[in-house]
Amino acid sequence: MNKSTTILLATLALALWQSVSAQQAAPKVQTLRGAGTADIDRAPEDKPYVGKAPGSQKPIARTFTGQPPVIPHTVEDLDVITLVGNPCLACHGPANYKYVNAPKMADSHFKDRDGKILTEVSQARYQCTLCHVPQADAKPLVQNTFRGVVEAKKK
Ligand code: HEC
Ligand code: HEC
Repeated sequence: MNKSTTILLATLALALWQSVSAQQAAPKVQTLRGAGTADIDRAPEDKPYVGKAPGSQKPIARTFTGQPPVIPHTVEDLDVITLVGNPCLACHGPANYKYVNAPKMADSHFKDRDGKILTEVSQARYQCTLCHVPQADAKPLVQNTFRGVVEAKKK
């Protein structure tokens, strides 16, 4: 074995040893889902919705223009929207909102995609909870610095 081959082998051995020891010393990576990909998925914590029966709370301030207002009341047993029935419309629909003193749906909900005015809620808006969401007292999964327009105005 000549001198340069010896040096080459020694360098390779050193690199191998370094990579092995680096692997051993590497910190354990914590994923956002909090478990290894091979682990069985854990069900997320069951958070109760905040808000009591409709009619007993104030609307929640909107935080940006065009935001679908969030639902301030509970939706327990109210959010099963099917082809034949929509419990949200029982209170927010054009026929009933006055009697139950619920906020009227926005005019945008009575237009088709070409802007034609409809007498019934547009099918594009039928699945209310696609856009309107109930609230839970949950801590943000990821830190963020979002400040809504309402909060920004206060400063
Ligand atoms: C029993 C009647 C009733 C039912 C059913 C109901 N709501 Fe409401 N909703 C209300 C009332 C009353 C308010 C006013 C706030 C309060 O008192 O809780 C309200 C408030 C809201 C608001 C806030 C509006 C704003 O301007 O901030 C949204 C959004 C909303 N409801 C969506 C829904 C959706 C979606 C459903 C179906 C999952 C639903 N509601 C079912 C009565 C009802
Ligand atoms: C595609 C998203 C979307 C769907 C679906 C939808 N909404 Fe909305 N909703 C909005 C937005 C956005 C607003 C805010 C006003 C606007 O921009 O039209 C709003 C406003 C409202 C408001 C408050 C009205 C106001 O003063 O602005 C009520 C009440 C409401 N929606 C109820 C409902 C109900 C009940 C359904 C189901 C039948 C529904 N929405 C489906 C997006 C949606």
